[in-house]
Amino acid sequence: MTTALVVYESMFGATRRAALAMANGLEPYATVRVAEVGEAPRTIPDEVGLLVVGGPTHAFGLSRPQTRTEAATRTSEPLVSPGEGVREWLEALTVHPGLAGAAFGTRVLRRWAPGSSARAIARRLRHHDVRLLAKPEDLFVGGVDGGLLDGEVDRAREWAARLGASLAASAGAHR
Ligand SMILES: Cc1cc2nc3c(=O)[nH]c(=O)nc-3n(C[C@H](O)[C@H](O)[C@H](O)COP(=O)(O)O)c2cc1C
Repeated sequence: MTTALVVYESMFGATRRAALAMANGLEPYATVRVAEVGEAPRTIPDEVGLLVVGGPTHAFGLSRPQTRTEAATRTSEPLVSPGEGVREWLEALTVHPGLAGAAFGTRVLRRWAPGSSARAIARRLRHHDVRLLAKPEDLFVGGVDGGLLDGEVDRAREWAARLGASLAASAGAHR
């Protein structure tokens, strides 16, 4: 069985919750590791066959130092990801040829907020020549620090299970 690495950035815990649900969905298909972005390797180890990356949508895209500082003012709890975000991690990333991947993100379900961290991550993974096995997936929260909406944990798990099935099918096709 190949290894799947799920890397997430999260301020208040919603994206971490989605990442953990995804790990659960992937478990029948891969040995799963989950890493907060500050602790994730910058060079993807050879045994990793699937890289799944997620982060919160900030200011219509990926977080920046200023938006993370703003997030910190919204909570009295420590941020889940107190250091760098997926934007900086993806800039420094080294991957091996043939790596499969997928991107997800969290955002609010509002007309005034059209951006998607998932799409921004997918674009960057493509630049690294990661072979995307799924369209970027947005999961919805009930406000900036409101947590995932009802049903979104299940949707995250099911999305990851489909991803795992695609991974298994593509591994079969490459044998
Ligand atoms: C500074 C800041 C900017 C944000 N900008 C957007 C945005 O442009 N679009 C959106 O849908 N959500 C936006 N949000 C809401 C975040 O997407 C939400 O806080 C996140 O999904 C929660 O995930 P987390 O708990 O893992 O950080 C913003 C939140 C913060 C703190």
